[in-house]
Amino acid sequence: MKQQQNAKTWVLASHNRGKIRELEDILAPRGLELKSAADINLDEPEETESTFEGNAALKSEAARAATGLVCLADDSGLSVDALDGDPGIYSARWAGEPRDFGRAMKRVHEKLEALGAADRTARFVCVITVSEPGQETRVYRGEVEGEIVWPPRGDAGFGYDPVFQPKGHDRTFAQMSSEEKKSMSHRGRALEAMIAAEFKA
Ligand code: IMP
Repeated sequence: MKQQQNAKTWVLASHNRGKIRELEDILAPRGLELKSAADINLDEPEETESTFEGNAALKSEAARAATGLVCLADDSGLSVDALDGDPGIYSARWAGEPRDFGRAMKRVHEKLEALGAADRTARFVCVITVSEPGQETRVYRGEVEGEIVWPPRGDAGFGYDPVFQPKGHDRTFAQMSSEEKKSMSHRGRALEAMIAAEFKA
């Protein structure tokens, strides 16, 4: 049994309400209280690393240093094969400021068109890190394979969901219910891996 099961409070190094709610649903039945970066006035550090793993660890380790508690963070994005993995760790940044994912999706499509790329394969990646005082940061990765479609389809979800069609399906993530998406998504898989390892008997 892992040591952190004695800890009563975990911290999620994020201000994202959706992520916080999702994790609360998982931790509450296990008797763990979740605090968010907003609850304890944690600043989110700048994401200066070059990998999803690096950026997630940077956030969970900064939160651990500030709180002395078990801290979680995640980093995720869309990786398009013909674009050498872009937008990748820059997925949010491709949407500009203020965030406009219509623009980001168009940018992906236009770059593929400019390359005349027949290969439209892509994957969503999510990395969750758990940083516990006195221990190595633990890393969990989830991926889902699919392809970029155009034009965008569906109104559900967020980000690049309307242009991402998971392999073996004829609807995009934005045409699926949140439950259906979660059953196959990169985030769902990373969470599953994290839960299986962190809460094993
Ligand atoms: P972050 O992990 O919160 O930094 O988000 C990275 C960015 O990746 C998001 O802003 C979205 O643009 C994109 N992204 C990550 N996961 C998904 C998803 O499930 N659907 C659509 N876009 C996603």
